Amino acid sequence: MKCLVTGAAGFVGSTLAKSLLDDGHSVIGIDSFTDYYDPALKRHNIAPLLGRMELIEGDLNSVDLRSIIGRDVNVVFHQAGQPGVRKSWGKDFGTYLDENIAATQKLLESSIGSASLKRVVYASSSSVYGNAAKYPTSESDLPQPMSPYGVSKLAAEHLCSLYAQNYGLETVSLRYFTVYGPGQRPDMAFTRFITAALKGENLEVYGAGDQIRDFTFVDDIVAANKLAAFTDGVPPGKVMNAAGGTSVTINEVIELLGTIIGRPIGVERSATVRGDVFRTGGDASELQSLGWKPQVAIEEGLRRQVEWVRARLDSAADEVVA
Ligand code: NAD
Ligand code: UGA
Repeated sequence: MKCLVTGAAGFVGSTLAKSLLDDGHSVIGIDSFTDYYDPALKRHNIAPLLGRMELIEGDLNSVDLRSIIGRDVNVVFHQAGQPGVRKSWGKDFGTYLDENIAATQKLLESSIGSASLKRVVYASSSSVYGNAAKYPTSESDLPQPMSPYGVSKLAAEHLCSLYAQNYGLETVSLRYFTVYGPGQRPDMAFTRFITAALKGENLEVYGAGDQIRDFTFVDDIVAANKLAAFTDGVPPGKVMNAAGGTSVTINEVIELLGTIIGRPIGVERSATVRGDVFRTGGDASELQSLGWKPQVAIEEGLRRQVEWVRARLDSAADEVVA
């Protein structure tokens, strides 16, 4: 298959692109290297893949998407976006409008009428639910986002469903539940916690640390994307939870981290952050009915992320010494 991965230099996008290449697919990536976090980290993610795929460095809002998709693309994996729940307030919301809503609308418009395109898989988010009515939360439960970010992800998800309804475009939206593992963004909890812990610094916990998350290992998210893209008969416009199935508090994660790195971890508590939901927990039975089964439990996944952060800190130290 010929796959287009948007946001190919990001955390999920680069992990997915590598896996598609390893499976023998051909991959075109697009990324604009936004400065939401250090673009050097994105260049580091994508560098090992550059000999095996084409990378278009450009913004979805300005590149000629119709002609890119027209190059016999079979599947679009739409990972590009402005992530981050806690920074989506105030004037920054303009970026969320551009990168999450306008870019998705343009991608969908450019997909209409393509003879080769079989499916568009969209990276939606558990943040569409807000503080949900019940746990585990099902796709049919009323979405009530708590953050402007969640609103933007839900709007783009609705765009995917309505292009399916009106044009028969085969879209599938996967609602990812907090993704972690090697490559995780530097603003996210695990990367921040592990980096601080390995440096012997205190972690910063927002609130009491009793917030609960359903965490999903990145390789399981990659597997979910492939099932959503390559399984026949998924109805156009389908929405599915991609939820790893853990139900752990941030305090429990920190305790586990202490066990993995073998020393007690210092914690500083600061105020809860606007937009942060108290709990996420997804019912993944829809995706499981396609054969999805999360493979990596939190203990193992956290261990792998610790090794990744350790290697990154070691190589940074080597560069300083050299
Ligand atoms: P990321 O920031 O690492 O990756 C997103 C990439 O998209 C970045 O490399 C960025 O430069 C690129 N990008 C942004 N706007 C673009 C545009 N207009 N044109 C081209 N490229 C653009 O984020 P991630 O954690 O890998 O998340 C990937 C997707 O999954 C996002 O859409 C995010 O909202 C969604 N998601 C992530 C999580 C998670 O826990 N990481 C959970 C739910 C949903
Ligand atoms: C994550 C992603 O960042 C979003 O892009 C995504 O859409 C969302 O998951 C999702 O599932 O839809 P979040 O759950 O906030 O959002 O992920 P983390 O950054 O890993 O935070 C987890 C919890 O740790 C949050 O309650 C947060 O407040 C807390 N946290 C985070 C801290 O206490 N300290 C920190 O330094 C960072």
